Amino acid sequence: MKIAFTGKGGVGKTTLASIFVNVLSKEGEVLAIDCDPDSNLARNLGFGDAEKIKPIVKMEDMINKRMGVEKGKKSFYKLNPKIDDIPDKFSRTNGNVKLIVMGAVKEGGAGCMCPENAFVKNLISHLVLKRDENLVMDMEAGLEHFGRGTAEGCNFVLAVVEPSLNSIQTAKNVNELAKDIGVKKVYAIGNKVRTVADKTFIEKELGKIKLIETIDFDEELLKQDKYEGFSVVSKKISTGMEKIKNLLKEELS
Ligand SMILES: Nc1ncnc2c1ncn2[C@@H]1O[C@H](COP(=O)(O)OP(=O)(O)O)[C@@H](O)[C@H]1O
Ligand SMILES: [Mg+2]
Repeated sequence: MKIAFTGKGGVGKTTLASIFVNVLSKEGEVLAIDCDPDSNLARNLGFGDAEKIKPIVKMEDMINKRMGVEKGKKSFYKLNPKIDDIPDKFSRTNGNVKLIVMGAVKEGGAGCMCPENAFVKNLISHLVLKRDENLVMDMEAGLEHFGRGTAEGCNFVLAVVEPSLNSIQTAKNVNELAKDIGVKKVYAIGNKVRTVADKTFIEKELGKIKLIETIDFDEELLKQDKYEGFSVVSKKISTGMEKIKNLLKEELS
């Protein structure tokens, strides 16, 4: 199962992605990939010294070497850098979970093909297409890390929304973009739902995008995140993510 979580900042991507990783990890190995510039997946997954992990995209020397680029010089780079040893060399492992902190694509977005962005795209493509583990990506509000091959290899993009027009508009943008690049399925998860009206609102505003599950607002979780700095212990959300996992698995079988 290869899945990407995306959505507007603050909707709960990292929270839901980390809990999804934990749910999946009960069954076997999971590759968790943090592609958020404001990365906190490591912390949510309980990796110690999370803030000290250097994102791959910032490993300039390593990337230049692999890409065959001389520092500071404008030059062509390799289209197929050696990459297959990277996941094991630059990841951390905790039980069944292997974490890679990728970092955000550099300024200029998908169009900017500096060596770092090209390297990261190559690496993600490798992870999606060549590795056997289940894979969960925590992304930004877009699909900048995806090339066409990666998009086609990814089973599901899960767009997290909350009861707000802004977050739903972001999901719609993602949905359009995803279709353009060949992602098979985009589903929405409604998070932080407090009332029936919230759920109805989300459903109505999403239009054609399928709402696969709604997750209630969890006061305890928010408190924990605020005061203890992580938010992975939530029975409610775990149950929701378990349900989503089963639905997605069924679709794949
Ligand atoms: N279901 C929920 N109920 C209450 N708070 C939530 C819920 N989901 C996420 N949060 C809180 O919302 C904030 C943003 O969540 P986060 O996962 O970091 O969002 P994102 O990764 O999309 O920016 C965090 O403080 C988190 O604890
Ligand atoms: Mg996040």
